[in-house]
Amino acid sequence: MAKGGVVKHGDLSSRVGVEVIRARGVDVEKLIKMLIANAGAEFASTYYYYTILRMHLAGHEDYKEICEDARLEDRAHWELIVPRIYELGGELPNDLPEFHNQAGCVAAKLPNPPTVVNILTVLLESERCAIRSWSAVCDVTFGKDPRTYDMAARILNEEIEHEAWFIELLAHERDGKSIPSGHFRRGEPGEAPYSKNRRFYNP
Ligand SMILES: [Fe+2]
Ligand SMILES: [Fe+2]
Repeated sequence: MAKGGVVKHGDLSSRVGVEVIRARGVDVEKLIKMLIANAGAEFASTYYYYTILRMHLAGHEDYKEICEDARLEDRAHWELIVPRIYELGGELPNDLPEFHNQAGCVAAKLPNPPTVVNILTVLLESERCAIRSWSAVCDVTFGKDPRTYDMAARILNEEIEHEAWFIELLAHERDGKSIPSGHFRRGEPGEAPYSKNRRFYNP
């Protein structure tokens, strides 16, 4: 790629923001696919599955609250990453079932039977999938695409916290063991200290 760049003066069909990361070795088409898959997983988890799983924790108000934080933070992840897909020249599928089927993690459906232990296990494994998926985005963008890397790293921070929360709850509930996560209550539900869009747009 030419040093001065290939985007022509006044050209709206290509982007310097894409040209520069391609020049640094990012496979932009592959990255867009990964981001759509991750966005699908975040959307499915917050919009549908996490909501249902949380409701079935009825009677465990403390677990419900932590689940709600994880759910709302997944919603923040969705909102954080979607604009990046469009900046890179990608777009969301114009079909919800198609989008759902591209999600990078298996659907966190309500387990049968929907016991607290089973629900916490689904939540834990869902967080683990998210950690793997966002780590993969960090890997392909590190040192090449600082904007995507920064977003993925912010999301990863929270996914790692979520895994620790559910390890703590499942250890207590299933094994009668104490494996602390170091959890502190969020200031407000779904605070998303690392990933909230609001902090970018209304600092
Ligand atoms: Fe997430
Ligand atoms: Fe999460």
